Amino acid sequence: MSGCPYFEKRHLLFKNKPPNPEEGEDASQAGVNKASKGGIIYGDYLQLDKIISAQVLQSEVKGNKIHDEHLFIVTHQAYELWFKQILFELDSVRHIFISGHVRDERNMLKVNTRIHRIVMIFRLLVDQFSVLETMTALDFFDFREYLAPASGFQSLQFRILENKIGVPDNLRVPYNRRHYRDTFKGHESEMLLATEQEPTLIKLVEEWLERTPGLEVDGFNFWERLEINIFDGLTKEKEKIEIMEDSEDKEELMAELVKQKETFTSLFDEKRHDHLLSKGERRLSYKALQGALMIYFYREEPRFQVPFQLLTSLMDIDTLMTKWRYNHVCMVHRMIGSKAGTGGSSGYHYLRSTVSDRYKVFVDLFNLATFLVPRHWVPKLNPNIHKFLYMAECCDSSYCSSEDSD
Ligand code: HEM
Repeated sequence: MSGCPYFEKRHLLFKNKPPNPEEGEDASQAGVNKASKGGIIYGDYLQLDKIISAQVLQSEVKGNKIHDEHLFIVTHQAYELWFKQILFELDSVRHIFISGHVRDERNMLKVNTRIHRIVMIFRLLVDQFSVLETMTALDFFDFREYLAPASGFQSLQFRILENKIGVPDNLRVPYNRRHYRDTFKGHESEMLLATEQEPTLIKLVEEWLERTPGLEVDGFNFWERLEINIFDGLTKEKEKIEIMEDSEDKEELMAELVKQKETFTSLFDEKRHDHLLSKGERRLSYKALQGALMIYFYREEPRFQVPFQLLTSLMDIDTLMTKWRYNHVCMVHRMIGSKAGTGGSSGYHYLRSTVSDRYKVFVDLFNLATFLVPRHWVPKLNPNIHKFLYMAECCDSSYCSSEDSD
């Protein structure tokens, strides 16, 4: 007796007799080894010879092999591979926008799926630090001298990623009072400059948002209707408060209302928007902000559901990049305290200053929540726009061709 209930009852699964592998009846072994017939095999397909032989421990090279340096290298390599995949997805999404294929709304699913994939990879990257944190500060100290002056600050892919998403150059924290690109030379520096000049994800999303159906002044004119409704709503609120008996509550409600009125006055003030834009406190154009708010309010309409999911994923990317920066700086603090980094920065203090809204590309989408209003203040859709929001635009005739199948 094995004591295993599955083993004991196994004969019941095979009605007549138990399987005899020697007679070739074991289903789990029924197959043909296809690799023996030629063709590409696993190791060659993945070029594992290159990847698996790329862990050169500097401590070993210098004659003092330190065990944890292997983990340190593999962790960084894993991050870089995932950065590569994120860039691959990001470029394909940017291509859909740049080529105008995004005007065919069927392509929005592809955009969303790929952006969502980026989000999932970032989730993994945020958690991955915990594996490296199994290394103690003392273990790190044992081999740290061998890797200087190498530093994550020199990660080309990380900078390209920031640039392609749209971290603005003028909002970056300087590195020892110098421009981040000064760390890179020759071809790498040129590549970075090019990514600063290419259309960023935020720019492309901005152009797309500006075309949000319903914003047309000679059509539904969402913005004007919203402004009228909000100020009507605020006036009615004020009237309700005014007839209340004098009390502390009344004063508080009135003060709150004044604040709300200021918030909305600023929302409908284009000059103020442009001023905030110039300071980097807003990043989207005035029109794009209107589009985003419209998608927020009417997210249940069929045509806005996928765009709403996209806006949510874009915020996820920002949130996860901030968490990445935060987890990284916490790990750095525990590994090197407040010592300078191997790359030469002040280390912990420099990194801490990068955990900031300056690096949040889609900050406007977060701030939209400030402008949410009671549902009954949201302009009612008229039959024309309502019908319009039921139909997607499919103007790209190449969609069905096999060339466009990626
Ligand atoms: C023991 C682990 C680690 C330590 C002690 C560490 C330390 C540092 C320090 C001190 C800096 C500031 C630049 C400098 O002066 O060197 C930095 C920057 C950076 N590190 Fe790490 N790091 C570690 C792990 C990682 C890992 C696993 C990655 C993954 C790719 C990474 C990516 C980066 C990046 C991208 C920057 C630039 C951040 C920015 O400028 O915003 N680091 N690191």
